[in-house]
Amino acid sequence: MQQETLERLHSRYLIQATWSASIREQLFDSIQIQGKDKVLEVGSGTGVVSAEISQRFSLESVGVDIDRSAVTFAHNNDPTSLYLAGDGNNLPFQPAAFDVAACHFLLLWVENPDKILAEMVRVTKPGGWILALAEPDYGGRIDYPRELETVGQGQIQALLDQGANPYLGRTLSALFHSAQLTEIRTGLLGGEWQGSIDEDQLESEWETLAQDLSDLLPADEIERFRRIDHEAWEMGTRVLFVPTFYAAGRAPL
Ligand SMILES: C[S@@+](CC[C@H](N)C(=O)[O-])C[C@H]1O[C@@H](n2cnc3c(N)ncnc32)[C@H](O)[C@@H]1O
Repeated sequence: MQQETLERLHSRYLIQATWSASIREQLFDSIQIQGKDKVLEVGSGTGVVSAEISQRFSLESVGVDIDRSAVTFAHNNDPTSLYLAGDGNNLPFQPAAFDVAACHFLLLWVENPDKILAEMVRVTKPGGWILALAEPDYGGRIDYPRELETVGQGQIQALLDQGANPYLGRTLSALFHSAQLTEIRTGLLGGEWQGSIDEDQLESEWETLAQDLSDLLPADEIERFRRIDHEAWEMGTRVLFVPTFYAAGRAPL
């Protein structure tokens, strides 16, 4: 991937990470991540979450991603973590190498999320924690004004076309149970709409959306939805909720 694309992706991942910040805080606190030695993130992308983990908790943080260019970007951007190229289906680690294995916005993108989860379990110490920090479910998306439901449907189609599973979120609990994890807790991030719009965030969102929708809708229609969206945010009437699930469970003893 080109440097410019990686920088754009990095900005987007930074925004995504703000959406799930509260749940990361809660999960990290509840598993007492502070006292752990080694934490793995599978599908670490440009390193947003791995960098947060190593910098906040001064522990050994390792990120693995199948995309070499993302790994190089993350390495150059965050000297506090170790980044390796690798496939989550076949992690390049010995069994029980980590205290915690986490992922964030990964499982919807993979063909066999159960296989990735099984690998995360394999490389985690018995009794260690497996965390899926955020997995969206676009099938439960709520839009207001309702005209913008078309955008949501377009996004689902675009994700399907890219080989992703837009409905992954709702399967997370089943995936964790099938992986024989114990002390499983799953839930959903809440939503809150208040304050002024963040122009940069909205622009970044539409950059991705316009690209995703370009094969499905004519350009003037996309532009019309962009205007409706913008006006609704400005008036404070916009509601946009994509249910985003999380799950935590312990590797079997
Ligand atoms: C949406 S990005 C999320 C990046 C990062 N977790 C974050 O939240 O900022 C998903 C990442 O998963 C990686 N990925 C997809 N399939 C993978 C696999 N089989 N093994 C490892 N990484 C994978 C992609 O290359 C991409 O960087």
